[in-house]
This record gives sequence, structure tokens and C-alpha cells, in this order.
Amino acid sequence: MPTTILRADYAAPAFLIDTVALEFDLVPERTVVRNTMRVRRNPAAGRASNLELVGEQLEFISAAIDGHPSAAIRAHEGGLTVNDAPDAFELTITGACSPAANTTLMGLYVSGGNFCTQCEAQGFRRITWFLDRPDVMATFTVTLRADKDACPVLLSNGNLIEQGDLPDGRHYAKWEDPFKKPSYLFALVAGKLVALEERIRTGSGKEKLLQVWVKPQDLDKTGHAMDSLVRSIHWDEERFGLELDLDRFMIVAVSDFNMGAMENKGLNIFNTKCILANPETATDTDFANIESIVGHEYFHNWTGNRVTCRDWFQLSLKEGLTVFRDQEFSAAMSGGNENEAARATKRIEDVCVLRQMQFGEDAGPMAHPVRPESYVEINNFYTATVYRKGAEVVRMYQTLFGREGFRKGMDLYFQRHDGQAVTCDDFRQAMADANGRDLSQFERWYSQAGTPRVRVTTQYDEAGRRYRVTLAQDYGDASPAARATQSGPLLIPFSIGLVGQDGADMPLRLEGEREAGGTTRVLELTEAQQCFTFIDVPEKPLPSLLRDFSAPAIVEYDYGNDELAFLLAHDSDPFNRWEAGQRLATRELLTLAEQAADGRSFDMSDALVEAFRSVLTDESLSPSFRALALMLPTETYLAERMAVSDPAAAHAARRFARRRLSEALRQEWLAAYERHLTPGAYEATPEAAGHRGLKGSALMYLSELDDPADAVRLATRQYDIANNVTDRMGALSALMNAAAGKGGDFAKRPLDDFYARFEHDPLVIDKWFALQATQRGRAERPVIDVVRGLMQHPAFNLKNPNRARALIFSFCGANPAQFHAANGSGYAFWAEQVLALDAINPQVAARLARTLELWRRFTPALSAQMRAALEQVNADAKSRDVCEIVQKALAS
Ligand code: TRP
Ligand code: ZN
Repeated sequence: MPTTILRADYAAPAFLIDTVALEFDLVPERTVVRNTMRVRRNPAAGRASNLELVGEQLEFISAAIDGHPSAAIRAHEGGLTVNDAPDAFELTITGACSPAANTTLMGLYVSGGNFCTQCEAQGFRRITWFLDRPDVMATFTVTLRADKDACPVLLSNGNLIEQGDLPDGRHYAKWEDPFKKPSYLFALVAGKLVALEERIRTGSGKEKLLQVWVKPQDLDKTGHAMDSLVRSIHWDEERFGLELDLDRFMIVAVSDFNMGAMENKGLNIFNTKCILANPETATDTDFANIESIVGHEYFHNWTGNRVTCRDWFQLSLKEGLTVFRDQEFSAAMSGGNENEAARATKRIEDVCVLRQMQFGEDAGPMAHPVRPESYVEINNFYTATVYRKGAEVVRMYQTLFGREGFRKGMDLYFQRHDGQAVTCDDFRQAMADANGRDLSQFERWYSQAGTPRVRVTTQYDEAGRRYRVTLAQDYGDASPAARATQSGPLLIPFSIGLVGQDGADMPLRLEGEREAGGTTRVLELTEAQQCFTFIDVPEKPLPSLLRDFSAPAIVEYDYGNDELAFLLAHDSDPFNRWEAGQRLATRELLTLAEQAADGRSFDMSDALVEAFRSVLTDESLSPSFRALALMLPTETYLAERMAVSDPAAAHAARRFARRRLSEALRQEWLAAYERHLTPGAYEATPEAAGHRGLKGSALMYLSELDDPADAVRLATRQYDIANNVTDRMGALSALMNAAAGKGGDFAKRPLDDFYARFEHDPLVIDKWFALQATQRGRAERPVIDVVRGLMQHPAFNLKNPNRARALIFSFCGANPAQFHAANGSGYAFWAEQVLALDAINPQVAARLARTLELWRRFTPALSAQMRAALEQVNADAKSRDVCEIVQKALAS
């Protein structure tokens, strides 16, 4: 394997760069970049005689020290060295790169005819030679020169200070960013773009210009992004007292992008998918995602940019914190802090993502702590653990100290570290000091990998009216990668309530307390095992455990089916109401899956049907909550929880349960469908989205019936009259699902219509590809055949990550029963595509490579074929990105 970078090897940079002046002559085939830096020795670092700059894929043209050519400068493979560098000097380097040929989408590249950049984590070194590490912070001045017709718009970070015409039909613009920043936050955009603009006044009364830049044909899809940006700015002032620090804040949409979006200072660059929306082209889920990602990137301005990371091992310092902030923002927007139930919907969705993505990561060869100890390729560590588990770790401070205590910690963090590049320890210390707490034990949340498990036992003493709760923590059967990091028990904030036989919460009084107070308590579990005794407990309660998912842990408690049904009906904590239903469903489905794996016939109790009936018909619950509660755990989640992952068995089990639920509740689904119709003009509110969501669930269940006539009739009508893509896709999915069961072809007309209708809208065509890649297969037509056919479609393009994700990733990652076909056809396809992408875009290839990392957990017949596919990729892959993933998988 290529070099491993260790956190323990961190050393401060020997030199610092205070100012950078960049001049670009933008030409697609060959862009010349002149880079003038003020360099000086770092007084806080050990002495090194040479200055070593990194540079990749660059053509060296010339260099000078204080304006003079120098024999001390040597450009070489991987960088540029200045031998015996002076203590302080000006270094000018001129080089060139090839944006049009850059398919990696890192550094400077061309997307849809426009120039743009992506520098995080290490893309700046593909633009010019530099100390490309986040603890080197400089002020940037950027001059862009380009053809005026091809590139009428020239953007970079900060403020526009000069612009004008040049000879030969060219023009220029000069930008200055007043804030020091690391190179990964540099950005430029140049091309044919138009902007939606808005001027707002922030808390201190200053006027700010906001712009959302897009291609001209997309201008009608920018309103939601702008509204989201305005709401983000106001929310960050209100909740954290953080104000926008630049006079101008720009967002640009580009269609070729490796991830969701990037927080470049004052010039956020977004994947079109995460910014463009109108009701005809963006689903309710897209609308919600856009709001949270616009918030996320904006919030980075303080958590990431003003205070940045010392090194890439500290990535969660900015990502975990910023995800937490965007989650809180979305929760507030979806119904506010007042509306518990609306908040809970957001919380449930976030926990689902965590369990789906992060728990699996923790169980495999890529398991790593929130603050990793080592990496081969940093791009592989933009993970669910760093982002999602990292956000849970931040949330636990708030759970421990309350909103006010958390705010005090944030205030102290900015007071101490504004303008600095710092570590996760610095953040924890600010929280500790602001709240007068010793948080040394809490560090283990940053250093230990694996998903902690809390086993709960309870004992009620009727005569003494005492209820004893015993909590025991460990890591269950953690993977070897995770086990290697473990050093001791965690501080787990464990939120608990006790539910009485009338369904109401009991007032809580712990042993030693003078009187009862509150109905939810956060117990602090710090030992491997600890007892907590509640007193004055008049009757045997039902425990509501880990309310609001107060820690990223697995809770084991031996609930009876009737107890889970009771909690689903009564728990005052909406998260745990949902959780009770999921526990019930998971238990039933795992039993069914074992039956399927053993070739036995299915035998399912009525508990789930009755629980679902009461949720479906409980009009006191919000439609969005009901839609979530009526969703069964995914096949992937179930397969991961089986002793041996068997995707076919998980699929059969889930199908069986869905059909039982559709048959037993047929009238209820029909009634729910009619009751939650949303006639009239489209509304983008969370309430309206809730109705559409529940209506969509009803339609999907109806499409499972042996006789899907109702579903076909309703879905066909819904498709034909739809005035939004949520309804249109919901109808189309239901028709495709009914057709898969029945063998009919009533989905063909709408599927063709969908393509024709949106032919010129790439983001909607992505949905068309994804719908087909994730469809249920039929024996006579496996989905792999459909996917291979679609690879030949004129609209398919492997170089565009959104398109590759829509077809290939959807199939390999979101259609487990078809991907894991017994004949290995999915794995052969996977190996081909990983290798094809490896030559184009290693970062995207490595993401796809990860879909086989849990290979050891599968049935022997599957895992042998998975291993063969991994070995093939390992033999032929070229990139560090892909090699790291497959080698770690094979070594596990
Ligand atoms: N920092 C970005 C975010 O979380 C994500 C990011 C990291 C990224 N590396 C990237 C985006 C490469 C695009 C390409 O907001
Ligand atoms: Zn981020």
C-alpha cells in the first residue's frame, strides 16, 4: 500500500505564507498561473533549511526569489524545493495546468463550458505549488483574465476590487479576500452565468449582497436556495450570535461535482443537485436537502473557515460541528423549537441515516474514530463517521450542558480561536471550561471506533416502590479495526423516562434526591456498568430508553411485543414512539429473514399489523410522522443485523411483511390515500410534504397487493395530473413495483413520458436512471440487464458523477437483492465500473469500491465471489484512493 499518514506525526510547518497573489490566464487547454507569495520561517517550528512546496500535475515555467531567478529553486516530481531558503522572501512561481483534460474534478477544471475549482482537501496543489495544508493561512488576492465572450463572469473569494477590458477580446477581474484562509478554501469560477440577487441587512445593520449563480436556463430554480440562504443567515445570528463577515456572499451551481457542496470563503460551490429546485423538478426530499446543505455550507463560514482545522485528522472539528448546526437549523425550520413532533421527524431521519451509513462503516474494515489516527488518502475519510457520528458527539455536549451551556462553550471557542487552525481537543476544552466540567473521559468519543452498545436490565421492587435500572456498556462484537482503538468506558449521556400503566410519564426521583423533578432525565453513564435507582415509583413502569437518541449507541433491552406496541402508542418522546415501532418491525423481519435463509415457510405474528393499523389510523399524529413510522427498516439494515448477511433472505422477508401489511390494511391504505390527497396548487411547506409522503406510502403498499388494480388506477391518475415531481415519481415507482409483481407493463408509458418530458433537465433524468436501477427485478428480467442496457443510453455519461451515481451507485448500493445476485453478475459489473472510474475520477471510484467492504459478513457463496471481485480490482487499480479501500477490505 502507498504511504500511510499518521496523526502522531504532525509537525508544525517550517515556513509560513502570509500573502498570496494569484494571476490566472484562463484557457481551457492550458491555463497559466502566476503565484507570488510572501514566505517566512515559522518561529514556532523547528529549523529546516529547505522550503518544500507540493505541486501535482503541473507544468513548471519559471520561478524567482525577490524578483530574481535563482539556482536554489528546483521543480521536481511532486513539488518544488527552495534550497537554503532565506528567513523571509518573496517567491514567484509561474506554471500551467490543463483544466479541460482534468476529469478528477479536483483542482481547476471545466464543467459545462465553465471553469471552476475544488480544492478541499488537497486540490490546490493541482493549481499551483504551495504549502497545501490547513495550518498555513494566508490572505489571497486573485486576478482572473479570460475571453470576454466565453467567460463574461469572473468570480473568486472576497470582494471585487477592480475589473476592466484587455486587448484581444479578453477582460479581467481582481478579487481580494480580507480574511486569512488555508488554501483548501480558495475558489474561482469563470464562465457564462447569471445570478439571482438579494440584498439583506444583518443584525449589526450592514447591507449584504447575496447571489446564486447558475446557467441561464436554471435561473427559475434558484428561489428556494436563496430563501434557504437568507434563513440560514438569520438563524446563525439568532441561535449563535454569528454574523456574516463579508459584504458579498456567493453560491455557484456546477453540474460536475464530486460531492454535495463546498464552503469556499464567500464563494460556495454547489453540485446542481444540491441547489436547483422547483416543484416540477425537485422532490420534497430534494427541497429539504437543499435547505440543509445551503445552511451547512453557510455555517462553515464560522465553523471551518474563521476557525479551521490544524490538520486533516481534525476534519470532524468542522464537519461534525457543522452537520450538527445544519441539523438544528433544519429542525427549527421544519416546525420550530416549540413543535416537538416536527422536530422529532427531522431527528428520526438523521438517526436513520446514521444507522444506515455509519453503523455499517463501524462494523467493517474502514472503521475509524471520529478523529482518525491514520489515512492513506484523505478523500476516503470524508465519511459517515467523521460527519454523522461527529455530529452526534457535538450533540452530546448540548445534551449534557443544555442549549445555554452549549452556547457558552461555542462563545468561548470563538473567543479563543477565531483566526486559528485548531484541534478537536481545543473544542472539547472550550466546552469543558465554559461549563466548569472535566471532560477528559469524553475524549474517548474521538479516539475509539465502533458502535457502543448499552445493555439495560431493570428491577421493580413493589414493596419498596423502587425501580433499579442497570446500564452496562461495551462494543458488542466490534470489528478488529474498531477493537484496536478501544481503551475504556465512554461518558454516555443516557436519557430516560418511565412510562406508567396509563401511558403517562411518571415524575422522576433518583435515590438521594429531595423531591421528584421532571419526567425525562439524562443519566451519565461513565463506568462499564452502573446502577441508577428511582424511588417513589408507585407501579411497575415501562422504561423509555435513550430518548431522542441521546447517544450514538445501540440499546439492548428485552421488551415484549405488547410493551413495544404500548410505547408506540403512548411514549411522550416522539423519537421513542417511532423507535418502538422500528424495534417491533426489526424483530419480526429478522425472524422472517432467518426463516427464508433456512428455507422454511414464513410465519408472522399479528403484532406488527396491529401496531401499523393503530399508527395509520391515529389522526392525532402528523402525516410525516406516520409516514416514517410505517416505513420498514431497509433490506441493507436488516442484512447487516443478520448473523450472516443474506440479501435474498432480507428481501424475501421484507416483501412478505409488506404484502401482509398491504393485504391486512388494504381499506386503511385506501382511506389514507384519499384523505391525504393534496389537490390545488403545489405548496412547499413541511405539512404539505407530510401529506404527500403519507399518500406515497399508501400507494406503495397498495402496489404490493397480488391484485394491484387499485394501485394501478390511482397511480395512473396521479401520474397524469401531477403538478410536482414528488407525486409524479411516487406514481411511477408504484406502477413499476406493481408491474414487477404482476409482470404487466403499465409502467412503460409513464416511464417513457417521464424521459420525454424532462429530456433537457439532467437532474430529473438522473432520477429516471435511478428509478430503473433500484427497481424490483423479475426472474425473466434481472435488473443488471436493465442497467447494462442503460449504460449504452445516449444520455449516460460515466464522467459526470451525478449520472454515474444515479445509475451505477444506485444499483450497487441501493438494490441489494439484485446487486447480490447469486450468479455474481453484480460483482462483475462492480469490478468493471470501479476500474473504469479509477482511470477517470479516483475519488468517485473509491466511493463505489466501498460497496463491497462488508464482504466477509455475507453467506459463503456470495463472499467468495465478492473476494474474487475485490482481488481483481486490487490487481488493476491505479489510484491511491481505490487501492486503500480494496486493500483494507481484503486484509480484514
Ligand atoms: N467540505 C465539504 C462539505 O462538507 C465537502 C467536501 C470535501 C467536498 N471534499 C470535497 C466537496 C471535494 C466536493 C469535493 O461541505
Ligand atoms: Zn461540511
